[in-house]
Amino acid sequence: MEKKKLRSQEWFGGKDKMGFVHRSWMRNQGYPDDMFNGRPVIGICNTWSELTPCNGHLRELAEFVKKGVLEAGGFPLEFPVMSLGETIMKPTTMLFRNLASMDVEESIRANPLDGVILMTGCDKTTPSTIMGACSVDIPTMVVPGGPMLNGKFRGGEIGSGSFNWAIKEGQKTGTFSEADLLEAEIGAARSAGHCNTMGTASTMATMAEVLGLTLPGASSIPAVDARKKVMAQLSGRRMVEMVREDLCLSKILVRKTFENAIVANAAVGGSTNLIIHLQAIAGRIGVDLKLQDFDDLGQHIPLLVNLMPAGKYLMEDYFYAGGINVVLKELGDLLHQQQLTVNGKTLGENNANAKCYNHDVIAKREQPFQDNAGIAVLTGNLCENGAVIKPSAASKKLMQHTGRAVVFETMEDYHARIDLPDLDIDENCVIVLKGAGPKGYPGMPEVGNVDLPEKLILKGVKDMVRISDGRMSGTAYGTVVLHISPESAVGGTLALVQDGDMIELNVEQRRLQLLVDDAELQRRRDAWMAPAAMAARGYVKIYIDHVQQADQGADLDILVGGSGSKVERDSH
Ligand code: FES
Repeated sequence: MEKKKLRSQEWFGGKDKMGFVHRSWMRNQGYPDDMFNGRPVIGICNTWSELTPCNGHLRELAEFVKKGVLEAGGFPLEFPVMSLGETIMKPTTMLFRNLASMDVEESIRANPLDGVILMTGCDKTTPSTIMGACSVDIPTMVVPGGPMLNGKFRGGEIGSGSFNWAIKEGQKTGTFSEADLLEAEIGAARSAGHCNTMGTASTMATMAEVLGLTLPGASSIPAVDARKKVMAQLSGRRMVEMVREDLCLSKILVRKTFENAIVANAAVGGSTNLIIHLQAIAGRIGVDLKLQDFDDLGQHIPLLVNLMPAGKYLMEDYFYAGGINVVLKELGDLLHQQQLTVNGKTLGENNANAKCYNHDVIAKREQPFQDNAGIAVLTGNLCENGAVIKPSAASKKLMQHTGRAVVFETMEDYHARIDLPDLDIDENCVIVLKGAGPKGYPGMPEVGNVDLPEKLILKGVKDMVRISDGRMSGTAYGTVVLHISPESAVGGTLALVQDGDMIELNVEQRRLQLLVDDAELQRRRDAWMAPAAMAARGYVKIYIDHVQQADQGADLDILVGGSGSKVERDSH
């Protein structure tokens, strides 16, 4: 078989003026001749940023990737891309996921890269980089940055994100002082890495591994464990081989690999955010994935891990117990074990020898922590195109509930009124939040799990049904209906809900219904006026004009699909 010409040689292999230009300026960094003579050029796409604390260690970790690339005969070139720091950026990183994916896509295509390693960590840095890479489709691997060590506070363990919700409650009830807050701050984040719960970052790293895009076991290793460096180095070595094998993303990412990700997400109690990210990735690589697939494929899957927010332990414990490899082995025939992964072996081969060292952290399939753990997809007149709820994070007694709506038109409206003493609300009400969808906010922030009213928290109320067109942090819990589509800002039925309407949630029957008759709904629809656009210019305007609804993955319509790796025109 004829050896495929390296892309990078179109830049570095020329004997003409442009060959000189491409090589000469690179040489100012001190590269010797042989770097340009047919070595696979491996891009290290780094989401390192001091503004993304979860990815703050990736600059150093990239050095280990480079070592591996060099050892295998490749030429590593690291480049920065837009980094999305969940805890810092406003109004929400989700507004910028698609923008970051464009940066990744164009950076890969425009440069002399034969393969690319995506250095990821914080929530959106995994999907955005994979989405961008899919639209180019050269050999690609993910090096997940890994979770922080367990959080520690007053002799106990605290999980990133999940503990935040407890702080809020504790402050309202007076059981959490200012001194407690300061002590918890450093104890909660005492090492490099991303959130240490099975929140969105851990979920997305897990997803990358299940999709076959990491070396086996990579996603569970804590950020500061020496084995993370080993994994990075081995990833660099393997990437060079992948280029020689022309193992592109489209050979790995097929419909069955996405089905595996849905199944595994149910088994690990993963984040609802996986849904929109997985659909967006599928859209880029040309795989048809529907919202309903998440319910159809995930609903009978048992919960096999006991990790916060659904359970008790943290990612560090999970790694010591055997990590994702054990879960994937335990799932057995529930997965397509023959799916190809980046190391050239199948998922089943990679996990065949996995051993569990703590069954309180990872259960056997016959004795799961919970049955039917998958995310439920709801339909009904309140969410014509669907909505989601995470049963493993919800209260059993509220899974079938009819209550009176207390409506907040925007997040600002919610903040202004939720703690007013005379707000007409009790624990049986349904809190309705509008204006939190992709176009409406804009950016679909993680506000769906709004706090309960202070007066009900003081009464000891722990959970209420909350519904919105927004998202929820993967570290959060509660009976929270999310991703309602169409969103209120485009005139979905959610926009028509008024205070006092009755709303029925029935998770078993997968129904979310506004109990208002059709004639009245039509009257309200006729009178409805769209909210004013939230931006007149710039990227945000492009986003609002082009973002798809949540049930489709909230990608920009102009970004769905790919353009391949070919660059049609030259720069001279
Ligand atoms: Fe970065 Fe949670 S804030 S992973």
